[in-house]
Amino acid sequence: MAKKTKQDNPNIVKLWSTTLLSKRFAHYQKVNPALLELFYQHRDREQRSPEQAYASRDDLLSRYPLHKELNELADYISESIVEVAREANRGLWREDEKVRVTISGLWFQISNGHSFHEMHVHGNASWSGVYYLRAADSSRSATDVKGQQPNGVTRFYGPHVEHMAGGFGDYGNLYLHDNSWDSFPQDGKLCVFPAHIKHMPFPYVGEEDRVILSFHAQVFNSSGSQKYDYGFNN
Ligand SMILES: [Fe+2]
Repeated sequence: MAKKTKQDNPNIVKLWSTTLLSKRFAHYQKVNPALLELFYQHRDREQRSPEQAYASRDDLLSRYPLHKELNELADYISESIVEVAREANRGLWREDEKVRVTISGLWFQISNGHSFHEMHVHGNASWSGVYYLRAADSSRSATDVKGQQPNGVTRFYGPHVEHMAGGFGDYGNLYLHDNSWDSFPQDGKLCVFPAHIKHMPFPYVGEEDRVILSFHAQVFNSSGSQKYDYGFNN
């Protein structure tokens, strides 16, 4: 029998956790160089200044439909979306239900010179994600940061952040300060998160560019239905 801990207090109800996935692609050492070559060629065709932050359009899958490494990574992303969505929907999806993922947008970003994006969410999708093609000089861990502003991390914000501005703060709601989580870039690391979660790529500066792939996706069930009926009791 499991030892009873303070967390087992039967009077306590804890609600609404957030489910994300974070793991490393086993084939990143083969796939990443091929994609970096493709993406720099793509950017250079537009003759942008190398010092500028660059974000491609989100149609890479239809632009390069036969690119071997891009398709390999897209397949891995789709499998990973199913993995995290199945966990988040445990008890709601039928056991072993087959689902289909449509990656509705996929694009890359090259950052340097303290470039960043403001806090945002992704619309018209249930899951989104970031894949780090080249972490370069990004902060690698919380101890790496040591009280400084992190370099190039992806920060996610939980619902408590809504109550920080102008809210009442005392020792009783200290937990409200635990309102963010950082994904530290690492070559080949994939992070899949609910599309509605607020997030922000922190400013990045380094010897080499930070290069990431971003995506958002929709998930369909076995009957091809994307949307659920109102009411889960049917
Ligand atoms: Fe984003």
